[in-house]
Amino acid sequence: MNLLTDLIAWPLSSRPLPSLLLSVPTLLLTMLLSILPANAAGTLPALMPLPSSVSEAEGGFTLTASFTVAYRRLHDDRLTAAVSRNLARLQYRSGIPLAGAAQMSSGPASLTIDVTGSDTAVQGLNEDESYSLIVSPQRIQLTSPSVVGAMHGMETLLQLCVFRNGNPIIPALQLSDSPRFHWRGLMIDTGRHFEPVEVIMRNLDGMALVKLNVFHWHLSDDQGFRAESKLFPKLTGLGSHSEFYTQQQMREVVAYARARGIRVVPEFDIPGHTLSWQVAYATLASSPGPFQLPDRFGIHDEALDPTRQSTYAFLDRFVGEMATIFPDAYFHIGGDESNGKAWLANPRIVAFMKRKGIQDTAALQGYFNRQVLEILKKHGKHMVGWDEVLTPGLPKDVVIQSWRGEASLAHGAIEGYQGILSHPYYLDAEAPAEQHFLADPIPADSKLSPEEQRRILGGEICMWGEQLNPRTMDSRIWPRAAAIAERFWSPATDRDVTSMYSRLQPISLQLETVGLTHISGPQEVLRNLAESKEPVALATLASVVEPASFHERSKSQHTDARTPLDRLVDAVVPDPPSRIEIATQIAEVTSTTTSVDDAAAARQALRERFQSWVQASRVLTTLLSASPRMSDAIPRGEQLGQLGQAGLEALQYLDAGGAPAVWKAQQVQLITDAAKPVALVRFTFLPSLQKLIEASKSSSP
Ligand code: ACM
Repeated sequence: MNLLTDLIAWPLSSRPLPSLLLSVPTLLLTMLLSILPANAAGTLPALMPLPSSVSEAEGGFTLTASFTVAYRRLHDDRLTAAVSRNLARLQYRSGIPLAGAAQMSSGPASLTIDVTGSDTAVQGLNEDESYSLIVSPQRIQLTSPSVVGAMHGMETLLQLCVFRNGNPIIPALQLSDSPRFHWRGLMIDTGRHFEPVEVIMRNLDGMALVKLNVFHWHLSDDQGFRAESKLFPKLTGLGSHSEFYTQQQMREVVAYARARGIRVVPEFDIPGHTLSWQVAYATLASSPGPFQLPDRFGIHDEALDPTRQSTYAFLDRFVGEMATIFPDAYFHIGGDESNGKAWLANPRIVAFMKRKGIQDTAALQGYFNRQVLEILKKHGKHMVGWDEVLTPGLPKDVVIQSWRGEASLAHGAIEGYQGILSHPYYLDAEAPAEQHFLADPIPADSKLSPEEQRRILGGEICMWGEQLNPRTMDSRIWPRAAAIAERFWSPATDRDVTSMYSRLQPISLQLETVGLTHISGPQEVLRNLAESKEPVALATLASVVEPASFHERSKSQHTDARTPLDRLVDAVVPDPPSRIEIATQIAEVTSTTTSVDDAAAARQALRERFQSWVQASRVLTTLLSASPRMSDAIPRGEQLGQLGQAGLEALQYLDAGGAPAVWKAQQVQLITDAAKPVALVRFTFLPSLQKLIEASKSSSP
């Protein structure tokens, strides 16, 4: 990897950092000597998430083999393990042998780490995750009140490493940083499809890299119960198709996450989405059965029986057992999409509702939630649930996770509940990173009072698993999740989409170095489809299409738990770099303010790209017809050639100073046709190409 490509225009060039310096007067002197005023046109490597405050200086600290690390105060096992791990990463990034650098020392060192507080056995919601970095040509000082903050600082340090004049350096700067929100989560659904432990672990590494701090583990759903219970072994014995996490594995995941400053919040979705429970223990059910693990996704009517004491006795023992594995203070009970049909179909349950004066099934779910809340409290847990748990009378200490949108989140906050926003961060919408990035848990025009705003704990990215497997999971999460992580961490004023995209690609490459397969996974599917080591034409097509959304795919392809996820749509990624590249190049070609040289370079790049589409198109029909997994994309192959030709002609007409109106109308029709759904993939560049076509003046036909 050429680290020079990481150099980008730094959007927040210089912001002062007074409090840090005032607190360390002797340091102040040294720093003033070594740090010159920040360079307004300065460049720093791509950082994501952006820190709250940074001030650049001249020069930097050069990494050499004599690099040493010293701890100033706390240095427990968690911190020393994190330092070793990150030094190994820094070694890979810099090419300098650093692995043996960490030492216990109070003397001088290249990197000093000063954790001023004590470490906690279980990371809390209100952990102080702030840190500061002071880098001079002589040394690097990392200071934080917590081990977690120090870990965040090390991630920043890794992102800061850049090559200048052939040497790996950390640019001189003063940086102080703290998160905007305490709850910065990623939910992974392992109920619909099982995801092996290594998939979870590499995603935890990705989370740590961008400072996400809550792994919300969706562990049960209709299609599968994934958490081994020794008290209730049939849950996985009958409810998982033998694909589940052992208790040992779950403990390892919790430890792996803790080592990276990440809390693990398990979700056991009740009372709906529970067919896997009922397959195992039919006495939990509201309906007579028999039950089968369903292949069909979506909402199933079956639900746990909320009227029986035995249901609560079961849940009490189960939660108690899970509490020994998941030490986090929060426990997620799901609660979504329980439609009440099974309850209304059971005369005994209807009679119970009458007897208790329970008006409807939402109120019955409210009754259920209150019983479950008591169980969670008994085991020392706070309850988290999806929007639907918020029914009248719900105690105020329940945290509401909103998947129904900002209005629903705000409603909860006004009612006095803490909340987590998820609706705009559903990755299965296959939307561009910028759309997620711009969605804010507390938008600038929020009508919430300061007190209500404080109830918004943060946000969670949701990765539902119906259409995913271990090959495709990472590429549907990354790198888009990094842009959302920035929304959760960085100041609210950070809304520059161009800056975000310029940093997203370098960060995407770094995410690959921690083991994520978001780049290699789809490429493997592509190679397998094409039966070729270098499937050039297919890769050309794949680079400019993206998957249909979850809902579009569900509508046009029958997908269930057994559907092989091995088609062209599984070899393409949402918001590939081509979308922004083409949009930028077309903007440069059509703008009157672009310099002549830049416009010429953009024109040449576009011409080559359009030519490559025309060329690929010549062989794509034959290639795509080779397999039923691709043959539905034959029209896409043909369109790629036509759109490439349209682009080439548009460039020619732009040079000529005008285009026939008839030609323009034909090309716009071509674009309209190409926007229609085909083969579950959609082109990424159509609006930009249309701009190029419309850019030249219309001449008469
Ligand atoms: C959900 O998307 N049903 C939480």
